[in-house]
Amino acid sequence: MKWVVVEDYDELSNRAAARFLEAIENDPRAVLLLPTGSTPEGMYREIVGACRSRYRCFRDVTTFNLDEYVNVPPEHPSSYCAYMRERLFRHVDIDPARIHIPDGMAAAVRSENPSLSMDEALDLECERYERAIAGAGGIGMALLGLGRNGHIGFNEPGSPFDSRTRVVTLEESTRSANAPFFPEGEVPRRAITAGIATILAARSIVLLAAGDAKAPAIRRLATELPDPSFPASALAHHPDVTVIVDKAAKGRG
Ligand code: GLP
Repeated sequence: MKWVVVEDYDELSNRAAARFLEAIENDPRAVLLLPTGSTPEGMYREIVGACRSRYRCFRDVTTFNLDEYVNVPPEHPSSYCAYMRERLFRHVDIDPARIHIPDGMAAAVRSENPSLSMDEALDLECERYERAIAGAGGIGMALLGLGRNGHIGFNEPGSPFDSRTRVVTLEESTRSANAPFFPEGEVPRRAITAGIATILAARSIVLLAAGDAKAPAIRRLATELPDPSFPASALAHHPDVTVIVDKAAKGRG
């Protein structure tokens, strides 16, 4: 695991954007796994700024998102669909057909199979998502945030390291950490997330963490042996991981 410790959030956003832009410059057909949350917001801002002046920045890039809430329609302002649309997709020349976000409404599956229950449809949506990743040739680079409890994507503590895309129940601490994104209502209780094995199958992984609220999780990542009780520790099993942290998240440890 390679550690890059930067001064502050702005530098973290710059570094992360540089990694992202380098990936799509080196391979214009790159397949990326993308995070949401507050940490990557600065990175997306930098990317949008850089791509404004570039021709065909995202033309042939394919993206998959790590996760999406269950039962939150894509047009809902707190959905990860809306997050991605507002922060990245509507500003760049990406082909809408190359954007993939798990469908927490399983709308397409349900319209093809109207007799399925919602849970059956969600399970099929997860299988469909894994097939889409495989069909795109697998993930080249995965960018990740880090939950305060060590989650990656929405893989909460206890998630098996061999897990694939599936429906998960969110911890109460995760729901309260994400409450600012739901100013007008309750944070959903379930989500679809790419699994830990889905993430580990990426050829390279970049994990971002900023601010002192992440310092305990970063300390655990730096010091503990891999264990499902701390999901990010699974990254120790991967040969190409870069952790970009600011000084506040790096803490004293
Ligand atoms: C959310 C997302 C994760 C993200 C994490 C950290 O729960 N599902 O993918 O990495 O929280 O979020 P933040 O960057 O806002 O601290």
